[in-house]
Parts: sequence; C-alpha cells; structure tokens
Amino acid sequence: MKKSTLILDKEYKISQIDPRIYGSFIEHLGRAVYGGIYEPGHPLADENGFRTDVIEAVKKLGVPIVRYPGGNFVSGFCWEDSVGPVDQRPERLDLAWFTTETNEVGLHEFANWAKKADSDIMYAINLGTRGPENARDILEYANHPGGSKYSDMRIANGIRDPLGIKLWCLGNEMDGPWQMGSKTAYEYGRIANETAKIMKWVDPSIELVACGSSGSYMPTFGDWELTMLNECYDNIDYVSLHRYYGNPTGDTANFLASTMDMDDFIRTVVSICDAVKGKKHSKKQVHLSFDEWNVWYHSIEQDKEIKKRDRWGRALPLLEDIYNFEDALLVGSMLITLLRNSDRVKIACLAQLVNVIAPIMTRNGGGCWAQTIYYPFMHASKYGRGTALRPVISSPKYDCSEYQDVPIIDAMATVSDKGEVTVFCVNRDMSEDCVLDLDLRSFGPLVMTEHIAMHHDDVQAVNTEENPENVVPLNVPVSKVEDGKAEVCLQSLSWNVLRFSPKTI
Ligand code: AHR
Repeated sequence: MKKSTLILDKEYKISQIDPRIYGSFIEHLGRAVYGGIYEPGHPLADENGFRTDVIEAVKKLGVPIVRYPGGNFVSGFCWEDSVGPVDQRPERLDLAWFTTETNEVGLHEFANWAKKADSDIMYAINLGTRGPENARDILEYANHPGGSKYSDMRIANGIRDPLGIKLWCLGNEMDGPWQMGSKTAYEYGRIANETAKIMKWVDPSIELVACGSSGSYMPTFGDWELTMLNECYDNIDYVSLHRYYGNPTGDTANFLASTMDMDDFIRTVVSICDAVKGKKHSKKQVHLSFDEWNVWYHSIEQDKEIKKRDRWGRALPLLEDIYNFEDALLVGSMLITLLRNSDRVKIACLAQLVNVIAPIMTRNGGGCWAQTIYYPFMHASKYGRGTALRPVISSPKYDCSEYQDVPIIDAMATVSDKGEVTVFCVNRDMSEDCVLDLDLRSFGPLVMTEHIAMHHDDVQAVNTEENPENVVPLNVPVSKVEDGKAEVCLQSLSWNVLRFSPKTI
C-alpha cells in the first residue's frame, strides 16, 4: 500500500470560492433543450412543458448559473427569432450543428426554466455573424426597465420586470475556424471592446466575459489572449477558457493526468492577464471564466454518422457521450483544479448539463438518470463552498506518455462558514490503495463525519436507464481524529470526499 500525507492549516487560504464555479451550460444543440429540459407531453412535464424530473436532478447538483444559448450555436443566432408568440417564431437552419432550430424555446421560456432550476442565466451574445448593435438590443430587451423600443417589446411579450441578467459572454470561441464569423485576435479584441463599451452604457451593472482560446492546444493560444486583451482589457471583466479531454487510446494513467495541462492552461492565462495589466499600468484585475470544461470524445464518431444521415434534422441525439467511471475520476480532478485556482477562476461551466456531454441523461418519453460524472460535481457543488485552502501534499508520483511527475494523490480542501472542513481527493494509482495521513491540527478538535468514496473495478463501467446505480458513491466507515490527525485509506482509482466538523463537547 502506498503512503501520502496532507497537511492543512486554516490560515493557508487561497480565496473565498465564488459559487459560480459550479455553473453549467445549456446550448440549443442536440437534445439539450428539446427532449432534455423541455418535453411537453412527457408524463412528468409541468404546465410549461419542462421536465420536472430534470429540474429536480439539476437542483440536486446545485448549479448557480447556466450559460445559454450557446456555444457554437450562438454565433449564427438571431435572438429576435426566439421571442414573441411561439407560433409566429421562424424555424432556422443552424449552421453550427447542421440542424434545424424551431425556436419553440427562447429567452422567456429559458428564463422561466432557470428560475425553476434555481439558476441565473449567463447569456452569450452573437459576435460571429452579428455585432455591437445587436448586443445592445438584446441587453436593452432583457435588462432595461421600460420606455424604449426593446424593453417595451419584452413587456408586450409578457414580462414586465427586467430579467436582470448580470453575466454576458462576448461571443463564443471566436478564435476557432469552425465558428461562424471567426476572427483574428485583433479583430476580435476591437469588436469585443466596442461591444463591451456600448453594453455597459446600456447597463453598467453587468459583467462581461471576453473569449479566450478554445483550448490550450490552439496554435494561436497565448498570442490570442495577449493581442485581444490589449484591445479590450479596460472594458471586460473575465477572459474565458475552454477545455475538453478524452481517452481515445485507452491510456487511463495519461488521461487522469490531463489536469496537469488544465492547471498549466489556467496559470498561463493568469500570467497573460497580469502582463497586460502591467503593460497598461491598470489597477483592474481581470479574472477567469472557465466556461466550458468536461470530458468529450465518446460520441464523436457516432455524431458524424448522425449528421450524414439527417442533415437539418431536429433535436438529434448529438454529443451524447456515455460517461464511464474513469471519466468521473477526471471530472473530480478537474473540479479540484478549479478549486486550486479559485483565486482567479471565478466562473466555470461544466459543459453541458442535459443529454449533450452531460451529467444528466433523459430518454424521450422515458426516464432521467445520472451519469457517473454527476456525482463528483454534486459533491463539490454541495460541500466545496466557503474558503478554498491550500493543502501541502506529499505523494508518490508517476510518469506517463504525456506528463512527468504526476502525483498519485490529487487533492484540495475547503472550509465552510460553519468551520466544516472538506477534503476532495482522487487516487490516480492504477493498482494500489494509498494511506493518506491527514494533519488538521490547526482547526482544533474535529470529528470525521463522512467519508464518501466512489470506485468501480471496471474503469469502463457506466450508468444506464436500466442500471442507473452501477457506478455510484458509497459511504465508507469514517476514521478517528486524534490530536488533529487522521489516517484514511483511498482505494486505488477512487474519488473521495472527506468531511470533518468541529467537535462539540
Ligand atoms: O459544448 C459543445 C461545443 O464545444 C460548444 O458549442 C463550443 O463552444 C465548443 O467547441
């Protein structure tokens, strides 16, 4: 059995955790909206056609913000098509996914859904085929109280009070050649700056996210951030990061080390933001919005077939990755990485939420179930609130095909306002359990209240509608805390949540 140690001190504070790092994403793509959150006629649909089983599953995850309506979709989207009487809304070709958008669900319907799901909207505007004028109009429509063309249009369409959307994305992945209206970094920086200025004149209370790179592998990564931030730094608040990982070769050790890249990606973007800040002699701090992250690769081949077979189809089953146990481990490690960088990552969105590369799956007319990745997200969102603490970890390391010196134990800790300490850990070791010696003396007397562990002997194991509890977390016996020290066993390849509370005498 391997051995590692974790020392935690209540003064090793990284940052207050912004709850928005537990955000997610719903795009008009595949069955995310139609057949996902919305299915009128389903036995569990409410009076608005929203599936109540899905709403319940989302609420259990605790998702404070949902990015909407795209994604690639937004770069060709005309928001005006999605408001007003539903029977008068046009159907449109969506050139992002080569499907047909019916516009049956639009801004009003989504705002209603988000309220039911206890979430706020993070709204992405189209900076691909459209520009600043259009951004001004949708913002006026959503947030202006009344007495102007678009705010009065909202009122005429049935919503008197402003929607009050606080967080806006200035386009999506504008560095990507696959994007409608993609741009060079300079072109994007200029348009983002002008759009940001105008939007903040309409509503100074909003916050804006500028598009960073679509991934750390992009050839323009780094230069993109530097060039575009040079143009828009003063008027934006966050820069976005997107990253998906996959394991197409079945190399689990390497796959589980992917967060080494994620960590590096974050730190590089932080350095560039701060370099631009320095160059501009600015007092303002731009933070990070990791607004697309997940595992994504299982469905790629299948999607090619679907698109070939049914070009311009409606609500096709696209990007329906079926997540296995090792995906849940990586998602756990990605959450640990976000928490570790929570001094700069203030927003993050698990992409996406329902059916499309999602923790929640549905069958049209049928059930709703949790994929493997649902659980680490739920644990982090539920227990990873308050203050992030930096643990000092000593752990055996391994080398794999792309990464060297990968610690087998990846861990982060948080302390809640009530003094409850939570340690999240992944044991990446492929064959051996690991004893973790915890030193928590600075917190005073503690009791261990819970040890949640998730493990499966088969890294390929999945949950299905028929067998939804194949891969689920279990409660294992807690350890004794003596003189502020505890010893826990982390099973080989496992996700663990260790919870401690102040001892009451
Ligand atoms: O989340 C799926 C897609 O991935 C999004 O539409 C796009 O922004 C990214 O490339």
